[in-house]
Amino acid sequence: MKILVINGPNINMLGKREPEIYGSMSLKNIEDELFEYSKHFEGVQLEFFQSNFEGGIVEKIQSTDAHGIIINPAAYTHTSVAILDALRAVKIPAVEVHLSNVNSRENYRKISYVAEACIGSVSGFKQNSYKMALFGLVNFLNE
Ligand code: DQA
Repeated sequence: MKILVINGPNINMLGKREPEIYGSMSLKNIEDELFEYSKHFEGVQLEFFQSNFEGGIVEKIQSTDAHGIIINPAAYTHTSVAILDALRAVKIPAVEVHLSNVNSRENYRKISYVAEACIGSVSGFKQNSYKMALFGLVNFLNE
């Protein structure tokens, strides 16, 4: 079972970027930790993708052969009908992830365009949000 993990704009800056909000781990550290965690699930294979460009994320969603998607669209969460439409078009089960608790922050972060195309969301557990998403997605796909 192949799971595509997508991270959007500025997630490549993790570690340096507002650590009090996003934690002190780099994206590479988070990906390595998630890879280790994925070994708990037999046959699960991860692919990682990060882009600062909306179109790059749309093209990745359109071209993937993954069975499931974990996506932190970052700022595009709150603006992107294009990413929502791409997720809807491919009909691959997807989970929305956020490091910070978007619901306890500014009002504009409480709106998620992509949520309508996702089976669920995890927000506020820093790097562990990705692990929780993987647990939920793999169980969903195995049902
Ligand atoms: C984020 C939350 C977004 O509002 C923000 O624009 C990000 C990161 C998170 O993981 O907490 O870049 O998606």
